[in-house]
Amino acid sequence: MAAFARKGTILTALLLVFLMATPALSAKKYLFKTCEQAPFCRRNRAYADLAESNGAAWDPPYAIDPSTVTFDSGVLQGTIVKAVTDPTGAPSTVEFPFQLAFLESGSARFVVDEKQRVQSPIPGFPEGLTQRRYNEASKWAVTGDLTPDISAVESTTDDERKNDIFHVRYGRDRHFEAIVQSKPLQITFYRDGETHVILNDRGLFNIDQYRPKPADPTSLGDALDVKDMWEENFGGKEDKKPKGPESIALDVTFPDYEHVFGIPEHADRFSLRETRGGDGNHDEPYRLFNVDIFEYEVNSPMAMYGAIPFMQAHKKGSSVAIFWANAAETWIDITKKKPNPEAFGVRKSTQTHWISESGVMDLYVMLGPDPSSVYQQYGLLTGFTALPPIYALGYHQCRWNYNSEEDVLEVDANFDLYDIPYDAIWLDIEYTDGKKYFTWLKSMFPTPEKMMQALDKRKRKLVTIIDPHIKKEAGYKVYEGLSKSELAVKTDSGEEFNGWCWPGESAWIDTLNPKAIEYWKDQFKLGKFCGHESNLLIWNDMNEPSIFNGPEVSAPRDTVHYGNWEHRDVHNVYGLTFVNATVQALQARHPRHRPFVLTRSFFAGSQRLGAVWTGDNAATWDYLKIVTPMLLSHSIAGFSFVGADVGGFFGNPTSELLTRWYQAGAFYPFFRGHAHIESKRREPWLPGEPYTSLIRTAIRMRYQLLPSVYTAFHRASFDGVPIVRPMFLLAPDNEDALGIDDQFFFGETGLLVKPIVEEGATSTEIYLPDEEIYYDYLDQTIYQGIGYKHIDAPLEKIPILARGGHIFVRRDRYRRSATLMSHDPLTLVVHLDKNGNAAGVLYLDDGETTAHSRGVYLHRFFMFNAQDNILRSRSMQASSAFNKSFEKSIDDVRIEKIVVVGLDLGKLKNHAVEAFQDRKSWSTDIHITDVAAGKASVVTVRDPKVLVTGDWSIQF
Ligand SMILES: *[C@@H]1O[C@H](CO)[C@@H](O)[C@H](O)[C@H]1NC(C)=O
Ligand SMILES: *[C@@H]1O[C@H](CO)[C@@H](O)[C@H](O)[C@H]1NC(C)=O
Repeated sequence: MAAFARKGTILTALLLVFLMATPALSAKKYLFKTCEQAPFCRRNRAYADLAESNGAAWDPPYAIDPSTVTFDSGVLQGTIVKAVTDPTGAPSTVEFPFQLAFLESGSARFVVDEKQRVQSPIPGFPEGLTQRRYNEASKWAVTGDLTPDISAVESTTDDERKNDIFHVRYGRDRHFEAIVQSKPLQITFYRDGETHVILNDRGLFNIDQYRPKPADPTSLGDALDVKDMWEENFGGKEDKKPKGPESIALDVTFPDYEHVFGIPEHADRFSLRETRGGDGNHDEPYRLFNVDIFEYEVNSPMAMYGAIPFMQAHKKGSSVAIFWANAAETWIDITKKKPNPEAFGVRKSTQTHWISESGVMDLYVMLGPDPSSVYQQYGLLTGFTALPPIYALGYHQCRWNYNSEEDVLEVDANFDLYDIPYDAIWLDIEYTDGKKYFTWLKSMFPTPEKMMQALDKRKRKLVTIIDPHIKKEAGYKVYEGLSKSELAVKTDSGEEFNGWCWPGESAWIDTLNPKAIEYWKDQFKLGKFCGHESNLLIWNDMNEPSIFNGPEVSAPRDTVHYGNWEHRDVHNVYGLTFVNATVQALQARHPRHRPFVLTRSFFAGSQRLGAVWTGDNAATWDYLKIVTPMLLSHSIAGFSFVGADVGGFFGNPTSELLTRWYQAGAFYPFFRGHAHIESKRREPWLPGEPYTSLIRTAIRMRYQLLPSVYTAFHRASFDGVPIVRPMFLLAPDNEDALGIDDQFFFGETGLLVKPIVEEGATSTEIYLPDEEIYYDYLDQTIYQGIGYKHIDAPLEKIPILARGGHIFVRRDRYRRSATLMSHDPLTLVVHLDKNGNAAGVLYLDDGETTAHSRGVYLHRFFMFNAQDNILRSRSMQASSAFNKSFEKSIDDVRIEKIVVVGLDLGKLKNHAVEAFQDRKSWSTDIHITDVAAGKASVVTVRDPKVLVTGDWSIQF
């Protein structure tokens, strides 16, 4: 939950006073910086304006010294030289060594550092701090193989060499090329001879070199605004900036691309807007700076809880991407050039300008060629979604707060009373004794282990919140140990940093420190917290970090972390390091179990650790509407396991809004209802009829689809293709669909979901992005042809179209929780494509342990072939790595039903099908629905007596 969200605190009172004093601003905007208020952003934007106004005459001070350039073993390196004037006014230079590495995984990595002045250190440079630029963002974000590809070849021609140009071919079949030009400095990336990405196209490459603080900083002034270079002030809080200005900036152009996506987290459209004004555009750059921005604005480029500096550009026939591995505050300006038919050669393009406060420049370029290749390339760098335990994909019931053991168990019992499945009940901060994590408020939770055992009887989990702020209180062991061993974030003078959060004065564990990770693991030990219970899951909140009395509700940038790095360098990665520590703690607690941790703050790579949600939204239709584009943005930036608070966190939803939100939420990869402490209770049975029945239907629909959701997660865990899929994943050549962000394809199912996000709606328009045949999932009405289709959507209907060509698997029996479904029979759902074919995959394993990583799983491929009208099941397991023990454990699990939609009934031989398995064959009756006008046929095979294990065929 958010800062300032509680009644009666001094902070709220202060906030109200402030609000009254600043009536023109929205409730929170004044708390957070604009680009103008972030001096490094302001200066780099001014630099861009200067370049633009100079046009062709722009002569930036940076160039590669061609005599320094070498190419060896997949790496081109050399030195970029910046012309500067020294403090006496004499011309001088600063050197920036660069490396352009062509990686085996297919990406190119461009790293620029500042040459260390070891011989003559910078006078006045602070002693306690690391005298280098922060270069560990990749260390946290990137777990993949960074080995350069020794088969990359330099293919510089004589002509190119004469012009100080260097040329490398790389990638599979060497169909990628990089051309590096010394002056003006420029790197152009080609695929199959076509330009896709240009670095420094506009000459905005800029690095603030380290320099001594002049006695009079204004003596430096000229074109650049030098105000605030060594200290700044925002909202009455001083930032000492002991290292002075150290920003980095670069422009990246995507020639011929009109749409770019990604850089979550923002509450904005999926296709990113231009940011330099104009109709429908933003005036501010997109900002990446993890902050606790409660009740955030929608349609805004403002920073939110997490940051993934990954951007994808897509056009017909091509997808490419870049990843800017920097953990400091970052701003991104976007402008688009329209094609100009009058001026030959002016192509359309998207131009981006990346500006970070500090650190080395560390940029990865991925050349696709298609969306799934881009996700694979990005996943090979930052890792793939961890395969969650299957119960984590069920429904989660949360509220700030469930107040006591009785309260928890009553809510739990009500789910059964109302026949609604769920998997985990959540405890927000009030379960603790005085917001001291790892303690219990004994008056309300006298026997937490007994409560957990009661939940476990129905195979349900308990999630407790554990945040990074540790209450500073004598006698609180967790604090005393942290403080004594100096594992907390420090002030610039080396003392323990203290600030305010839920418990009052607190310290923040510094999980960049390996010793702090060990300390954290210790707190979760069996017997120490929640006894020996194994149904404990964890929620990490407030890890931006949220600090009520800090600048922008976060940590002062001049606080110091392990390694003597300033907070400004590591800000955006701090939340990831905290979740990493928690995941390691849960792994140590139950080594055989896959952990589950939900986080609010995140960075590139956080997808390896667990789930994320979009933070503190509100119970209004606008917030329901913005969820879909936000899920799409997270999903394409590697973070598949994402959801939003169903019902809206702040305020009270109407029963209609709550129902529509559950209908949408059933298709969020992470599906949790949550509510603020001051909101009315709204558990699914409370709105009454017809709403409760509709909510039950939505949640049950999610549980039916669990085998398919799990299968999609399995795919994401090894190739990065997300669960929530934009139109361009299935229809990559339809440029008209690139801006569509209010509908999505769900996993591998081919289901095209369009959440209803308008009050009182009884119908909607779904856009078909391709010429495939689509069937209404609920009544089999046929739709075909690119464009919008009108669909009825009264309150009882979730508009879903099933795209032809997909086979997916359901479990249709109602159980109380996901784990209880593990031996249920399966239903195969086949939607035939326009040629009468379909295919699909099923992945299953024990759903909770790590045995799957040793080949203990089931992976099957289903195919319906129009030529012979046969549905086949085949194994996808490589026999070498295949361990049959899971298969054996489910060898009694049947396919209880097969539903085939869209079959040409004329081709049916009779009203029975022939099944073949294990050299036996038998025939089974089928049921055929009458084909009404505009609807597809539905052929149902009840109990075909085939098993989920083993190969089989069914002749229709
Ligand atoms: C967590 O951090 C450690 C370093 O402390 C690293 O080795 C490990 O790979 C990280 N875990 C994940 C899942 O990213
Ligand atoms: C197969 O998996 C089971 C369950 O994890 C394990 O006990 C067994 O040793 C494995 N067998 C082989 C041959 O690895």
